[in-house]
Amino acid sequence: MIWYPYQQMKTMKDPYEIVDANGVYLYTKDNKMIDSVSSWWSVIHGYKHPVLTQAIKDQADKFAHVMLGGLTHEPVRRLSDKLADWLPGDLNYCFFSDSGSVAVEVALKMALQYYMNQGERQRTMTLSLTHSYHGDTFKTMEVGDDEDYHFVLEAFGEKKYAVNIPTEIPALEEAFEKYHDKLNCLLVEPLLQAPAECACTTFPS
Ligand SMILES: Cc1ncc(COP(=O)(O)O)c(C=O)c1O
Repeated sequence: MIWYPYQQMKTMKDPYEIVDANGVYLYTKDNKMIDSVSSWWSVIHGYKHPVLTQAIKDQADKFAHVMLGGLTHEPVRRLSDKLADWLPGDLNYCFFSDSGSVAVEVALKMALQYYMNQGERQRTMTLSLTHSYHGDTFKTMEVGDDEDYHFVLEAFGEKKYAVNIPTEIPALEEAFEKYHDKLNCLLVEPLLQAPAECACTTFPS
């Protein structure tokens, strides 16, 4: 049995059985349809992209995966260098993780450790926007404000380490005034359909 995500299993309709995919199209046995969410944005260049498919095949013939704990390799260095060239300013270091939720967790841990290293142990508060979604892991559920996860608040009580504010400058100013000595970072994701997020460490003036 498969437990499908974001569905009530008792009432969900039968999922489409996909037998092939190409470009923006998904194929069932009898029909084709446009995948307008690119399998939750993980196939944004389209299915069977010839360059990507070839690169995956070439790399799999050498090694599909090698961890970065104590090891390194040329493809990961090449990707980091490309990202560093593309990113602004001195954002030159890449930390690789395995999903959107874990990327947010990593960013939150980095921001927290920065202040711990500075001796500011009280800076544990994350600011983020109302209705924001940052992922499905426990900490990302806590810092986000997705209604589907409000049951977590019922279980654990009011949020202690996260505050959600509306997307308005006065709300941001008010939060800075109220929590300035506790603030650790501001977590932002675009309001357009662009599932990306960044954690910006706030530096006290
Ligand atoms: C804005 C945003 N943040 C975080 C995530 C979580 O990413 P993942 O499902 O890879 O853990 C998603 C996933 O859709 C997302 O849209």
